[in-house]
Amino acid sequence: MLTTAKVEEIRARIRCWRNQGESVAFVPTMGNLHQGHITLVKEAKQRADHVVVSIFVNPLQFGQNEDLDGYPRTMEADQAKLVDAGCEMLFVPTPAIMYPKGLDKQTFIEVPGISSELCGATRPGHFRGVATVVCKLFNIVQPDMALFGRKDYQQLQVIRTMVEDLSLPVEVIGVDTVREASGLAMSSRNGYLTAEEKAKAPALKQALDALAVSITAGEPIDNAIAQCKAALTQAGLTPDYVEVRHASTLAPATADDTQLVVLAAAYLGKARLIDNLPFTR
Ligand code: PAF
Repeated sequence: MLTTAKVEEIRARIRCWRNQGESVAFVPTMGNLHQGHITLVKEAKQRADHVVVSIFVNPLQFGQNEDLDGYPRTMEADQAKLVDAGCEMLFVPTPAIMYPKGLDKQTFIEVPGISSELCGATRPGHFRGVATVVCKLFNIVQPDMALFGRKDYQQLQVIRTMVEDLSLPVEVIGVDTVREASGLAMSSRNGYLTAEEKAKAPALKQALDALAVSITAGEPIDNAIAQCKAALTQAGLTPDYVEVRHASTLAPATADDTQLVVLAAAYLGKARLIDNLPFTR
């Protein structure tokens, strides 16, 4: 596996693959890879001739009081996992390579509307940072397709909207959330949980399952959300938000919508957990 921080090296190899008529799938990550990421890489291998992964802890998507400095960085272990999974090229840029003029002089990509709701309401600027870095990475790697986990459901929607609005020639593929046996969605931030907190964390998925069952059985959405928040609090989590939205547009759910998704974020110790569950009523 070629590991490089050099944009030219990435481009040269991709040009070579393209000249041979071969396809490229891309998996952008922030590293500290777990089974969720490896599933993306394996899925990418099924779909394209070559797989490129990036590891870049993107400062632009972290708020001032967030965990940029403490975000787990495990490059050697990540490289070994990627070699095993069949990744051929790993792009590991530095902030100076991605943002040579500095963060405050960088051109941004702002996806309106959805970026300031749900997680965007609690993390202002987060999705602007995500959209900007993903757009830059797409321009550097120029993949045919890019794969993202559905665990970050809102992020996937922001990226799909950006790709559509800017006519980027990249197919965006969502891949199902990978969960621990307990039901907890895999996330690099699960590493912040103590053993005691880890035992409480599956309550998030359980509360979402219960909400979906209750709405499907006819419970009004507002009541089901209130019950879900109460269940989270009871389990020792602090809900940030629980919302039911249209599954594909993420617009607030109306009484007529049948394809729904519940999205939630909750604090537990040092971690802010997010999860979602699409369902039909
Ligand atoms: O989901 C992530 O790990 C990040 O938000 C992404 C898409 C790699 C952009 O930094």
